[in-house]
Amino acid sequence: MKKILVTGGCGYIGSHTLIDLVENGFDVISVDNNSRSNPRILEGVEKITGKKIKNYKVDLCNLDDSFAIFHENPDIVGIIHFAAYKSVGESVENPLMYFENNLMSLINLLKCVQEFTIPYFVFSSSCTVYGNPSEIPVTETTPPRPAESPYGYTKQMGEQIINEFSKSSESTSILLRYFNPVGAHPTGLIGELPVGHPSNLVPAITQTAVGKLPQMQVFGDDYPTRDGSCIRDYIHVCDIAHAHTLAIQYMIAGKDTKKCEVFNLGSGTGVTVLEAIKAFEKISGVALNYTIGPRRPGDVIAIYANNDLARKQLGWKPKYSLQEMMSTAWRWEQKIKMDESFYNSKFSELN
Ligand code: WQD
Repeated sequence: MKKILVTGGCGYIGSHTLIDLVENGFDVISVDNNSRSNPRILEGVEKITGKKIKNYKVDLCNLDDSFAIFHENPDIVGIIHFAAYKSVGESVENPLMYFENNLMSLINLLKCVQEFTIPYFVFSSSCTVYGNPSEIPVTETTPPRPAESPYGYTKQMGEQIINEFSKSSESTSILLRYFNPVGAHPTGLIGELPVGHPSNLVPAITQTAVGKLPQMQVFGDDYPTRDGSCIRDYIHVCDIAHAHTLAIQYMIAGKDTKKCEVFNLGSGTGVTVLEAIKAFEKISGVALNYTIGPRRPGDVIAIYANNDLARKQLGWKPKYSLQEMMSTAWRWEQKIKMDESFYNSKFSELN
């Protein structure tokens, strides 16, 4: 079996991708320093796959420790790189921490690609590279606009670093630009574990509905959209995960057309914040307690994907509906509520 190293394997998208890779015949290992994740999420991965997943608790900003993983695993053929800080708000407060962590870890990984001639590299990028897009839906050639945060700049800069690296490398790279990943694995055994107060919409909805938050705010309903709230492209985390497996398979099959290719991973459908809330209320039967507050600085008015390229080249077919995104997110939130002792106290002990 071909071995894939997944960085950030204890994280939200990383853990779902471990499952998809195993289900598609790959051998996997994870590297995650658990600074923003809970290693016990791997218990859920193991329950679903029936496989014990090894996690190297290593900070990728340490080059020697990163090299050691590859010395111990000479059979790694591909890397999928998720590990990074991802809070827009935190990046505004602490830009240097974001540039150091997100870029140093990436550069060290690329040094490993070079040193150990790893053939395939997949990078977790984001629609945030488009900024406030000049056109919607956005295609992969829609010109990037200035990012709205240091976090967004780390994704733009990360893409440029990989692009330049791949020009002189034997390895092939793929950049996957996620839109808004939401939902949880249909088994209800793994899902998103936001650190602290959730900044993203769907965890804010589910935490309010389950009573963890007293109320949530809709950040503005005076935008030039059909109902005044922002438009986003929500995509199920399992659809995102499967795209990573397809990207690796695409490169192994030699179907790549150039050394560094980019793909949008979005559903292709724009949904407003208020529509997302209504969809949640419909599947959960919960009347959500929310108020309309002021706009959030840095928010993009509307963005959603043209996903034709991923469909055509990777054979990607997103299959989860908005209703399933909400129902799986809700099921997971209710499970965390029951396991509060497990998730909160253990998590706090770990960090
Ligand atoms: C979505 C919409 C908010 C919370 C960010 C990153 C992106 C990716 C996903 C990492 C916006 C509104 C939200 C709330 C609200 N991150 N909202 N009340 O900002 O589109 O994207 O997260 O990979 O790179 O930029 O996602 O979920 O934060 O916000 O009204 O309590 O929901 O204003 O319109 P966003 P989000």
